[in-house]
This record gives sequence, C-alpha cells and structure tokens, in this order.
Amino acid sequence: MTAPADPGGVFVLDGRELPFAAGETLMQAARRAGVYIPHLCFHERLGQSGACRLCVVRVDGDFAAACTTAAHDGARVDNRTNELDARRRLLLQMLFVEDNHFCPSCEKSGQCLLQATAYEMGMLGPRFEEFYPHRPVDASHPDCWLDLNRCILCKLCVRASHEIDGKGVFAIGGHGIGSHLLVNSPSGRLGDSTFEADDFAAGVCPVGAILPKRRGFVVPIGARRYDLAPVSAPPPPAPQAQD
Ligand code: SF4
Ligand code: FES
Repeated sequence: MTAPADPGGVFVLDGRELPFAAGETLMQAARRAGVYIPHLCFHERLGQSGACRLCVVRVDGDFAAACTTAAHDGARVDNRTNELDARRRLLLQMLFVEDNHFCPSCEKSGQCLLQATAYEMGMLGPRFEEFYPHRPVDASHPDCWLDLNRCILCKLCVRASHEIDGKGVFAIGGHGIGSHLLVNSPSGRLGDSTFEADDFAAGVCPVGAILPKRRGFVVPIGARRYDLAPVSAPPPPAPQAQD
C-alpha cells in the first residue's frame, strides 16, 4: 500500500522554513519562495526528468534530486553546502569536457544556464582533459540551428516537443558516452522534420545547441541576463532564456 500524498506543510531548506502545497516537489516549493536550487534539466512547464543531477540536495541526510522529490512536512533539506556545491562543480566540469563548449564564440554566452551555473558554483577550470568529440552542426532548417557540439543531453527539447508541441521531434539515442540527440525525420535532419521556430522546443535549450538563425547579438554582450545578475538571483519578469 502506498503512503497517502502529503497534504502540504513546511520543510526547512538551508535553515529557512518553506511552505509547500500538496504534491509539490522540493524544487517547485523552493522556486515559488524565490530560493535557488541549481538545475539544468528542470523546467516549470515540463514533466520531471532527473537527468542532470545538478539539483541533488540532502533530505534528512540522504541524497535526493530536488526536482523529482516530493516535499514532506518537517523535512530538513541541505542545498547550498560546500559539499553539495563541490559535487555540482564536478558534474559541471564533466559536462564541459564531454562536449565542445567554446563560450566566447557562442551566441548563448551570457544567457546560457550551463555557463551561469558554472560561475555560480565557482568553477574555475575544466579539471579533466577535454574529449573534443566530433559532433555535427545541422543547419538544414530555414529558421534554426542545431549544434550538437553544445548539447548536454538535458532532454528539455525532447520533453517540450512531446509534451507541449505535440510533435516528438527530438529523442535521445545511444548509450553511455555514445548517447546523442536524434531528430525524428526521414533524413535525421532538422530541416526535414516538423520542427518550427515558434515551437516551445525551439526556445527551451539551456545552452546554445538550438538557436534561431539571423538573430545574433540582438542583446549585446555585457547586457545579457546572466551578465547582469547571477543565476541564483530571482528571474526577471520577462525571461530572456530558460531559467
Ligand atoms: Fe538539452 Fe539543448 Fe541538447 Fe535539447 S539540444 S537535449 S535542450 S542541451
Ligand atoms: Fe533535477 Fe536536473 S534539475 S536532475
């Protein structure tokens, strides 16, 4: 027999009491209160994934992903501790070396959740040797680029296309280090898929893997969201990027 859903209550996050409603995850309750829990694969409008593990916190001493763990009354949750941020730095350093992230030449710089989270965690260098994998750039779509060099396999586009756009344009194929993003079209190219520039999936990528064409430097370097405020700051009223 499964336990009845918690009707709501209060938990303690880094010493601060936070109320939660029935069925809310730790991430949802924290965000409603304006408290930042690091994340890469979470999005308020999409279902749970648990892919990136950046949001792992300690709940009553045990590790748990904040985006998939329901809040429960009286829980004591550690979030921004030295131990947890060090684990997050390690995950970020692995992500940076597994793909090809050249921030200075990326249009997403300053609006990239990966870059902003690395700054927030105090990541100073790659720590590991870069893989420099060979990855394709798919420029076949008239309105959007798909640059797999930057893809961190967060599955946000996969879920967005499926859950909101009702299309299923993207999927993840392969295993382990061979995992990669697939495009559901006869040729495997974005231009031959049903993807459109105003799809929700077109604007959900936390890095610069899916970008609109002909829109470079609309917001200049230095004036972008994470140039102005760290990722841990409350999001602006009209978000420029996935938050
Ligand atoms: Fe995530 Fe972007 Fe890769 Fe899609 S293309 S899985 S949104 S990083
Ligand atoms: Fe929770 Fe990615 S944000 S696992």
